Amino acid sequence: MKPSPPTAPSAPNTVEAPRGTVSTRAAFLREFIKAPGVVAAVAPSSAALGRAMIAGIDFSKASAVVEFGPGTGTFTRAVLGALPPKWLVSQGGRGRLIAIEYNGPIAEICRQNFPQITLKHDTAANVIKICADEGLGVDGRGGVDYVVSGLGWPSFSDELRTTMLEGAAAVLRPGGEFRTFGYHVGLLMRGAWHFRREVRRLFKTVEIGRVVWGNLPPAFVYRCVK
Ligand SMILES: C[S@@+](CC[C@H](N)C(=O)[O-])C[C@H]1O[C@@H](n2cnc3c(N)ncnc32)[C@H](O)[C@@H]1O
Repeated sequence: MKPSPPTAPSAPNTVEAPRGTVSTRAAFLREFIKAPGVVAAVAPSSAALGRAMIAGIDFSKASAVVEFGPGTGTFTRAVLGALPPKWLVSQGGRGRLIAIEYNGPIAEICRQNFPQITLKHDTAANVIKICADEGLGVDGRGGVDYVVSGLGWPSFSDELRTTMLEGAAAVLRPGGEFRTFGYHVGLLMRGAWHFRREVRRLFKTVEIGRVVWGNLPPAFVYRCVK
């Protein structure tokens, strides 16, 4: 597998982006007001949820991570902080972090905050093509180690939800993991239960983590292994 050229000059493996500054939070809220069904949250997730999302992952054994719906980058920041030094291609390593964000203004904030990653302004429904274009071909086995998702799953149509979940499962290698989160209040929505049925159909094991109280609203993490 040939890695794509670096998207940014070599940078140390530090995470310098500001943590939810007033301007990024204001931009997030503005985009939520414009498209509540797409953005699906009034504010970015907390750092506590970011830590829970990647708990137990050893990225030194990984070479490709895909993120769905990074928003202003809470989970991106958590992943970057957990990577070994010089892991990314943009830092001279062999690791790829590809984030797919649908909302244009939010994608631009993410791109500016994290120049060291590969940011795609696209829909996660296109993840198979995006990975193929990036040299992470889907040959029936998948070349991605982790898919980390910040999408608000209950808000989507069943068809779109299924397309994106099938895409995540297709790009993962056997044994690869799909991590995402849910809100307890979200379980009042029918789509949350369709989501659970679909991940149980597509993944070998599905674990639901403990409540993360340090998030508003409280959330939990799904850990789904292919
Ligand atoms: C609930 S917000 C979470 C943002 C961030 N991950 C966090 O936890 O703070 C969902 C994000 O997914 C993006 N999004 C929605 N639909 C998408 C799609 N089909 N493909 C990629 N991103 C999408 C939204 O624009 C938004 O930035």
